[in-house]
Amino acid sequence: MNSEKAIVMSGIRPTGYLHLGNYFGAMRNYVKLQESYTCYFMVADLHALTTHPDTKELKENVHRVIAENIACGIDPEKAALYCQSHIRETSELYLYLNMLAYLGELEKTTTFKDKARLQPDNINAGLLTYPVLQAADIILHRATWVPVGKDQEQHLEMSRNFVKRFNHRYGEIFPEPMAYNFGEDLVKVPSLDGTGKMSKSENQLATLYLADSDELIRKKVMKAKTDAGPAAPDTPKPDYIENIFQLMRLVSNPEAIRFFEEAYQQCTIRYGDLKKQLAEDMVTFISPIREKAENIRNDKKYLDEVMSMGAEKARKSAVATMELVREAMGLVYSK
Ligand code: TRP
Repeated sequence: MNSEKAIVMSGIRPTGYLHLGNYFGAMRNYVKLQESYTCYFMVADLHALTTHPDTKELKENVHRVIAENIACGIDPEKAALYCQSHIRETSELYLYLNMLAYLGELEKTTTFKDKARLQPDNINAGLLTYPVLQAADIILHRATWVPVGKDQEQHLEMSRNFVKRFNHRYGEIFPEPMAYNFGEDLVKVPSLDGTGKMSKSENQLATLYLADSDELIRKKVMKAKTDAGPAAPDTPKPDYIENIFQLMRLVSNPEAIRFFEEAYQQCTIRYGDLKKQLAEDMVTFISPIREKAENIRNDKKYLDEVMSMGAEKARKSAVATMELVREAMGLVYSK
C-alpha cells in the first residue's frame, strides 16, 4: 500500500447488526477516508471473545459484518478489510504491550467496569486487557488516525500511553494514535422512541438495522412516537417530532421535508402521512444496502477472497512493524 499517505485504522466487533447510526456515524465516513488515506478496517473477532465466548455464530457474524461493510461502500481493493484473528502478529504485539500496561489503569477503564458489572461470572483477563489488544490493532500498522465514537476515547488515550512507554523504553517506533474527528460530518441518528440515539443493543424496535426487511422498517417507523400535533402556529417541535424530521433529513428529498415543515408550522400536519413518507424513504434507502449485503453474504467464495486479500495487506504492514519491534526490544539474538 502507498506509504506516503497517513494511516487510518479502525475496528468493529462482530457482536450485533449494523444499524443506521453506524452507517451515518461511521461507515459513510470510512467510505470517504478510503479515498485519501491508507485504511485498515478490521472485524474484531478476538475482542468479541471477551464477552461472547460461545463461537457458534461467530463465522456468520464475521461474514455479515464484512458483507455489510462492502454493501455500505467500503472497497476491499482500496482499503484493507480484514479479520483480526487472521493477523497473528496482533497477538504477539498484544503480549509485549501487556508488559507495559498496569493493573491499576486497566481496572479503572470505564468499559472494563461496565462489562464486569454486566458479566460478573466471567471477568476474564481478556476483558481486563481489552484496551491493550485494541492498542495492538492500531499500532501494528503504525496508524495515526482512528475514526471512532466518543465511547472509544479512553481506549485511545490508553493506546497513546502504551505507545509513549514503548517508545521511551525501546525507541521511537510508533506514532501516537489520535481520534479522527469528522466534525460536521458526524450526524446524530436519533432512535425512533424519542430517547437517545440508535444503538446496537438498546430498544431494538427503535433502531433501524441495515438488515431489516421492508415490512419491519415500515412497522418500526409507524410506531415512532407522535402526538396530536401543534396547537398553534410556530410551536417549537417536541424532541420526538424533531427526531422524525432529523431522520427525514438523512434520507428524504428536500421537497418532502419542506412540505412537512410547512404543514407543521401551519398546524395542518398529519403525523400518519409524515411517518408513511419517512417509512418509504427509509425503505428506498436501506433495501439496496440490505440486498447487496445479502448477495455478498451468500457468495462464500467472494467473502473468502476479500478476507484473504485484506489479511494479505494487513499482514504485510504487520510483519514490517514486528521486525522493528523485536529489534527495538532486543529480542533478536542472531546478530
Ligand atoms: N473497541 C472497539 C469498539 O468496541 C472495536 C475495536 C477493536 C477498535 N479494535 C479497534 C476500534 C481498533 C478502533 C481501533 O467499537
